[in-house]
Amino acid sequence: MPGELIAYTLAEVAQRNGKAGSPTWIVIRDVVYDVTEYMADHPGGSELITEWAGKDGTKDFDDFGHSSDALRILKTLQVGVLAASDQAKNRAATAQRKGTDNLSPEELMKKKRSKRRMFILCG
Ligand code: HEM
Repeated sequence: MPGELIAYTLAEVAQRNGKAGSPTWIVIRDVVYDVTEYMADHPGGSELITEWAGKDGTKDFDDFGHSSDALRILKTLQVGVLAASDQAKNRAATAQRKGTDNLSPEELMKKKRSKRRMFILCG
């Protein structure tokens, strides 16, 4: 159906690891992104993304605490979603995500903002 997002398995994403002329895909919170063109512009350098090429980079992506600008760019790079059969598996494997597993990008930003507010209040 037009507009419907294609579901990819982790094995399919793994084939797009930037090697042998393949594009570079990365999974962040169950969404599949094509970062091939973006990598060279990444302020953190392309190597950091290469490390997660064809894999789930959610933990490292979140650990850096990307801005809403980064999330906006990310949205434009979406090519599909992770196949439902792989979502649970993948989540279990990256479970140490400080309770942010089920948050949408918007919810995550809200959480970050409230953390920042606490910091300002508490000094
Ligand atoms: C898991 C892979 C990733 C890691 C480990 C990572 C890490 C980093 C780091 C360390 C910086 C800071 C650079 C500096 O200040 O010198 C940064 C900045 C940034 N990254 Fe990533 N990054 C990743 C993936 C991505 C992806 C896929 C995007 C696509 C939108 C992205 C967008 C940005 C942007 C826009 C910045 C500038 C700061 C900001 O707006 O948050 N990153 N990243």
